[in-house]
Amino acid sequence: MFAAASEPQITEISLDRDCTTLSRHVLQQLQSFSPDAQDLSALMNRIALAGKLISRHLSRSGLVEGMLGFTGGVNVQGEDVKRMDLYANEVFISVFKQSGLVCRLASEEMDKPYYIPENCPIGRYTLLYDPIDGSSNIDINLNVGSIFSIRQQEGMDEDGEAKDLLQSGRKQIAAGYILYGPSTMLVYSIGKGVHSFTLDPSLGEFILSHENIKVPRHGPIYSVNEGNFWQWEESIRDYIRYVHRHEGYTARYSGALVGDFHRILFQGGVFLYPGTVKKPEGKLRLLYETAPLAFLMEQAGGKASTGTEEVLDVVPDKLHARTPIIIGSVEDVELVESFIQERNRELKEAPFMAKS
Ligand code: AHG
Ligand code: MN
Ligand code: MN
Repeated sequence: MFAAASEPQITEISLDRDCTTLSRHVLQQLQSFSPDAQDLSALMNRIALAGKLISRHLSRSGLVEGMLGFTGGVNVQGEDVKRMDLYANEVFISVFKQSGLVCRLASEEMDKPYYIPENCPIGRYTLLYDPIDGSSNIDINLNVGSIFSIRQQEGMDEDGEAKDLLQSGRKQIAAGYILYGPSTMLVYSIGKGVHSFTLDPSLGEFILSHENIKVPRHGPIYSVNEGNFWQWEESIRDYIRYVHRHEGYTARYSGALVGDFHRILFQGGVFLYPGTVKKPEGKLRLLYETAPLAFLMEQAGGKASTGTEEVLDVVPDKLHARTPIIIGSVEDVELVESFIQERNRELKEAPFMAKS
């Protein structure tokens, strides 16, 4: 007995959706089965595997002795390292070891890049990543993420200083993040729009959930750590005074860049981590935090600025270079920039008179 005509369509749609895995989506995006397209599809598949392994570990971390807390070590950033940071760092290395794709991995948690020599003659890619973003949230079971950026491997630098990585974010060929929240989501772009996938634990697959995500031109959210108010430039303080005094703004700040970014991507608004007295360049790292997210935000129709230039144009002077960041809806980023430009104008016109 055949079901009514409309039912197969429903079944077909849900089946088709469940079969739109990440690797297939990449090939659909590229409209190609060329070796490069297959490489990118395989790379994204490995990123997905890393996300599944980390998601599984996080979901059990409160139950197993020794998975949470600090290692006692301090990383190249001068930050106390969490056990989960190290675990996640190792996961990315392991999933790319037998991939033949990635010759080098550069991570927030490693002073220098990690080479996989057996992949270098054929491996044509470098993976830059923040294995766990928002580490301060881990032990209290709040959302954290992983951020990744993929670049073409350009030649072999003999001294292992990865000088070829000291180029602008415009060289990225893919970027994205995994958000470990109530569900685990992977959001990525290969330069053809921004798309999100939700992990279906029963399938063990990331399934397409939103395609061609576009950030609203304006949103109500401003996301910043106001505890740093005393350390900011006057222009940033001027912006904060503005949103405090005008209707229609609401503050959200989770302590995890990935979670705050994700909220802005979907609901609009702006995330800021400006320079401070203690960290004039800001806290966030260019190659594996601000550049990949700037790539995504521009692909989603938003904007990402350091306050004086586009994040994607910044050329780092070292692997772990930091940049200030103002990222989100075009109108909101431009509002923040207008306060910076106003201050600069005052300083130029009457350097000694600029009001503080
Ligand atoms: P990470 O855990 O990878 O070091 O990143 C933490 C970052 C970022 O996720 C977050 O937006 C920011 O640090 C929070 O910094 P503050 O605690 O100074 O606000
Ligand atoms: Mn981070
Ligand atoms: Mn981190």
